[in-house]
Amino acid sequence: MKTLITGGTVVNASGRSRADVLIDGEKVVALLDPGSTALGVDLAASVDTVIDATGKYVVPGGIDAHTHMEMPFGGTFASDTFATGTTAAAWGGTTTIVDFVVQYPEQNVLDQYALWHEKAAGSCAVDYGFHQILSDVQDSSLQAMDELIDEGVTSFKLFMAYKGVFLSDDGQILRAMQKAADNGAMMMMHAENGAVIDVLVQQALAAGNTSPFFHGTTRPWQAEAEATSRAIMLADLTGAPLYVVHVSAKQAVEQIALARDRGQNVFGETCPQYLYLSLEEQLGARSEQWGDFEGAKWVCSTPLRSRAEGHQDHMWQALRTNDLQLVSTDHCPFCMADQKELGTGDFSKIPNGIGSVEHRMDLMYQGVVTGRISLERWVEITSVTPARMFGMYGRKGVIAPGADADVVVYDPAGHTSIGVGKTHHMNMDYSAWEGYEIDGHVDTVLSRGRVIVQDDAFVGEVGHGRYVKRDLTQYLV
Ligand code: URP
Ligand code: ZN
Ligand code: ZN
Repeated sequence: MKTLITGGTVVNASGRSRADVLIDGEKVVALLDPGSTALGVDLAASVDTVIDATGKYVVPGGIDAHTHMEMPFGGTFASDTFATGTTAAAWGGTTTIVDFVVQYPEQNVLDQYALWHEKAAGSCAVDYGFHQILSDVQDSSLQAMDELIDEGVTSFKLFMAYKGVFLSDDGQILRAMQKAADNGAMMMMHAENGAVIDVLVQQALAAGNTSPFFHGTTRPWQAEAEATSRAIMLADLTGAPLYVVHVSAKQAVEQIALARDRGQNVFGETCPQYLYLSLEEQLGARSEQWGDFEGAKWVCSTPLRSRAEGHQDHMWQALRTNDLQLVSTDHCPFCMADQKELGTGDFSKIPNGIGSVEHRMDLMYQGVVTGRISLERWVEITSVTPARMFGMYGRKGVIAPGADADVVVYDPAGHTSIGVGKTHHMNMDYSAWEGYEIDGHVDTVLSRGRVIVQDDAFVGEVGHGRYVKRDLTQYLV
């Protein structure tokens, strides 16, 4: 099966050029001058399928390096299955996700890893890899890290918050980082000072401050910046590379930038919600239906931050300067009915998470439209760097001969209206992005050479997605 994408502008991180993309089977085999007859044949006449990308961008498929499909969390499960979540991803031009296997205390790491394979195998519309969450750092978990690297799980997330659920103490963090320094794994960190947050939450509830707004005020930027700084110090002590997930506070970015300026292998991810949404407008929202519980739609951790304090502008700026390296969604969807509602009258019981896997490419493209980032930077932060950061580059994250033909044809003249009943394929009863308008549109999506989205229809297949066995990070300084 040969496909030719003609007439488009191919964009990689290093630049853009007019080229036709020839795909044979699952791979890109050539980038050719537009309309090329260099091989002595009219290529367009000799392939099985021609996709006309005239006036459009041809970019590597999006890689969302932070998702939680079907995750058991907050007394319920994230509402997207691997099938619904990866189908929504496809709609939005994301052709690879990296999801988190969860180890809760006393669970066996390798058993959990096998369980995640069971859930995902045959259920995904796009390709998928795994990170491993460690909540019980002890000898057997540390040994499992070595075994998982051989399986292509080369990154491990620890938590500095959620006592009794996920939290690792500093000694456990140190031990896991020592292991990572030895075996080359990437340490990922949920950097919030959990002990401080737990006190502030109890004080807020005791004072009768129970609405979602107080989720934000009880997880202050100081708790994020302090934990980020501590994680950086522990990483420095051990020599492990450190990737700080879902960064939302500008003071946390400053800690990451300082470490990077010292030459340390420290990296930061932010998410669309920390670029666009805020404590005041979303966590503090009211509606006729939900009253001040409306804000539950945006309860996630780290929390949305104050716009008055300038965190959102700072995140955009940090993406420009590479103080932050990439954008993932931290896709962790819950419905309002029965799920977010668990926290009615007590914000601390609202399941933490926002669903965005479908909209990341569009939301970040809007940053190109508004002049926040360049076209090339858009491709870099949504595809190229995730691929390099998590050991997939060459296969993924690039349009070049030999790469998987994961390709998005993006139409800058198109338009996307986000919201329930408009563009919404995630398994949620609301959209955290209701009313967002994008001056661009995902036109066609290919996953390993197969067209999976075309003419505003999903034409792929659940079960097409394949496990990606990842290498060690390719991003170290
Ligand atoms: O609120 C969030 N971020 N939920 C998902 C779990 C995590 O901490 O990434
Ligand atoms: Zn986290
Ligand atoms: Zn997460």
